[in-house]
Amino acid sequence: MTSLNDQESSKGLAAHEIPKLFDPIGKASISLEDYKQAHAESIRDPSAYWSQQAKSYLDWYVPFDQALTGDFSAGDIAWFAGGKLNVCYNAIDRHVRNGKADQVALVWEGDEPDDIRRLTYLDMQRKISQIANALHAQGVRRGDVVTIYMPMIPELPMTMLACARMGAMHSVVFAGFSSEALAQRISAARSAFVVTADLGKRGGKSIDLKGIVDAARAKIDCEDIITSVMVWERFFDQDSETAPYDMQPKDVRMDLLVAGQRPCHVPEWMDAEDGLFLLYTSGSTGTPKGLLHTTGGYALYAAFTTKNSFALEDGDLFACVADCGWITGHTYVVYGALLNGATTFVFESTPVYPDPGRYWDMVERHKITQFYTAPTAIRLLMRYGDHHPAKYDMSSVKVLGTVGEPINPEAWRWYFEAVGKSKCTIVDTYWQTETGGHIVTNFPGVTPMKPGSCTFPSYGIDTVILDPMSGEPVTEANEKGHKEGVLAVRQPWPGMARTCLGDHHRFMTTYLKVYEGYYFTGDSAYLDQDGFHWIVGRVDDVLNVSGHRIGTAEVESALVSHAAVAQAAVVGQPHEIKGQSIAAFVMLTDGFSESESLIKELRSLVRQEIGGFAQPDLICATQSLPMTRSGKIMRRILRKIVCNEVESLGDTSTLADPSIVDELIAKVAELQ
Ligand code: PRX
Repeated sequence: MTSLNDQESSKGLAAHEIPKLFDPIGKASISLEDYKQAHAESIRDPSAYWSQQAKSYLDWYVPFDQALTGDFSAGDIAWFAGGKLNVCYNAIDRHVRNGKADQVALVWEGDEPDDIRRLTYLDMQRKISQIANALHAQGVRRGDVVTIYMPMIPELPMTMLACARMGAMHSVVFAGFSSEALAQRISAARSAFVVTADLGKRGGKSIDLKGIVDAARAKIDCEDIITSVMVWERFFDQDSETAPYDMQPKDVRMDLLVAGQRPCHVPEWMDAEDGLFLLYTSGSTGTPKGLLHTTGGYALYAAFTTKNSFALEDGDLFACVADCGWITGHTYVVYGALLNGATTFVFESTPVYPDPGRYWDMVERHKITQFYTAPTAIRLLMRYGDHHPAKYDMSSVKVLGTVGEPINPEAWRWYFEAVGKSKCTIVDTYWQTETGGHIVTNFPGVTPMKPGSCTFPSYGIDTVILDPMSGEPVTEANEKGHKEGVLAVRQPWPGMARTCLGDHHRFMTTYLKVYEGYYFTGDSAYLDQDGFHWIVGRVDDVLNVSGHRIGTAEVESALVSHAAVAQAAVVGQPHEIKGQSIAAFVMLTDGFSESESLIKELRSLVRQEIGGFAQPDLICATQSLPMTRSGKIMRRILRKIVCNEVESLGDTSTLADPSIVDELIAKVAELQ
């Protein structure tokens, strides 16, 4: 094992010379051997293991009898069914009861660094109760779906918690999604209630969220479904009698409505298997799927993984800078820290506003103890140089987390040294919207770190590498000493999603029937000689752009909605900061020819249909695409072309028109 002294002496080495193994940092709760034993125990009898954890992490109104029922083959997994609890009660009220009424529960920093709000557990209990009463007054009832399209202001997590309190399911749509994408999600969930805000603020700019909601209402059957649009005001002025936006029928000024409510509300006692929330995510085909997470299992898993992966202690200020519109924001901004009675940090702005020292400045000013972001942000900030993190005292930080894609060793090294001053653990947390929380990660003080590896499975997670062809566990190492294949999990865990809303068949065929008896992640991965897990990337047509999950099919369907596009093929290409960027090949309809304005129109079409984050970096218009004689587009070839791997194109003789390949190579070279 490389000692810390070796790491010190290796400063300034080239990327390929970065040490492979770093000793655990910080005070260890247990040894690596203890972890291995405890992990083996946790997967030996998952029911017994999670039963014990559920009793220690959560307060139950009615205890459960059996922890786990059902299995992957039948797709009827249930955790703690029959037990009753309320997630908001567990995240807020019980801490108020247990002497934490005056402890700060949430610290918010707005777009401007001096725009700060702090809310105690008691403040949260009162405000969330008022919000729950306001939602009730608008007709929201247990089991309803409330769509939330909001900026990162404290009212966002509080609205989510208010839904949980009254047993309504929140369906948060990331505020970067377009009106079309929002409309699609409102319609798919038949969500009668929308909560939004008039404005969002990011990097000094205002975003007209209310305008986007109004545009969504004009689409599909939205207006028929919606009964109420509750609008928070980003700069609420109690004395103003008119709303600072164009009010539509069904619009409600949320701040006024909430201010008129009683600050107490009795939580609904929910069955552990009742739905807690829906979250739409991209798949390889079709429209985004609404994954359903349930009450007891999700809450336990959020609390458990926050505590263990980040070594969370009482008094910690936990900062996850993800947006609540993604699963990372759900589990690690809203639920994880609060369920543990710690303090959560909510951030509205960007890492580079007003300058690229923003994160580190916040760490110093607020004395953040755990900081959690994505490799794409780290790579971006790394480019601006070491002097930004060097300016700040970040000695409060114990753990630095990364999530969303494999972190390249250079970025890992920069995070470790320039940000963490070689004194913090980097936790590389691998997980998905579907898993609810981390499933493969190192533990601070326990697991040695290898830059780029998410190391070992979390407790209760039985990972396996399967041969993609046979579906059997890989037992033989390849010439590099790696056991390589696709990553799967052998048995259920409490945080896993239970179904896709209204389409259980899709849930089964995407996750549980690909390899019978296993949960299939959709990622390829390998175990190295030491058993460390390395994620290679998606094996399906899902792209990961700046940590945002985008289905190629969604972008293709946006592109073909243009009259000039007969067919479209979208592939990922490596990008220095975003990890992956989108390259689109569009085959033009007869009578249309390529022009700058057409390419612009196509870009804006993707923005309109999905959102700015899904815009292709490269659009290559062509008269033909590499297709087999049966008409199937060979995306594999397109991928090689954009990745400049043309020497390994493989056999192109099966193409209907092999000459198109050279044409596309030349064209892409010009565009890149
Ligand atoms: O490919 C994996 C990648 O992100 C995918 C899940 O995306 P999403 O559901 O949007 O959730 C992102 C945040 C949890 C995975 O299938 N991924 C996530 N974390 C890592 C990762 N790849 C490598 N290392 C990670 N730590």
